[in-house]
Amino acid sequence: MKKIIPAILTKDIAELRSKLTQIQKLTDWAQIDIMDGKFVQNISIGLEDVSLVKIPEGIFLEAHLMVENPASYFTQCQQANIKRVIFHIEMDSDIKNVLLKAKSFNFQKGLALNPETPVEKIIPYINDIDVALLMSVHPGFGGQTFILNTLDKIRSLKKLVPHLKIEVDGGVNIDNIKAISDAGADYFIVGSGLFEAEDSKKQFENLQMKIK
Ligand code: DX5
Repeated sequence: MKKIIPAILTKDIAELRSKLTQIQKLTDWAQIDIMDGKFVQNISIGLEDVSLVKIPEGIFLEAHLMVENPASYFTQCQQANIKRVIFHIEMDSDIKNVLLKAKSFNFQKGLALNPETPVEKIIPYINDIDVALLMSVHPGFGGQTFILNTLDKIRSLKKLVPHLKIEVDGGVNIDNIKAISDAGADYFIVGSGLFEAEDSKKQFENLQMKIK
């Protein structure tokens, strides 16, 4: 089943609370962007602040860890009630080891690939992950433009590993979400394309209609 996953990129605990309130009853998953200012040139809200926020009933959180050492965040992810951790294949730690550590925390696991990273790089890990996240912008900031050749990457990955769920993240909006879905994506990470609309509930429904 295809899913829209609202992306929350913030430094502010009040904004996190407000966005989670806006999307409750709309979705069962939300993505929190975690940035360390080293792997990407931006710093987001910390997981210790995320753990202070009451998660609305029925919402599961995934953490998109745009950080150099994702394993060092797993204890805080657990305390923040994160259910799925997604970290980048481009980080320079031992991927298999980090995946093993994530398994020991009982997290669902995902690997993120930056726009310039070929999808074939994920092959050694497909039995150890639940989702692949294809970045359709260069990570670090919301409101960027969708990189068109991501559609080819989605098609190639779906052909290579048909069973693997594909998330697409960055610049997803009402105008391109159908093409992204038709290319084979399963989960759509939407930040500004949802929250910048007048009425985010209506916008969520409009986005959902496009991927039926
Ligand atoms: C970018 C983040 C994305 C971003 C999505 O580094 O990983 O999740 O917040 O925001 P939009 O949908 O505005 O591109």
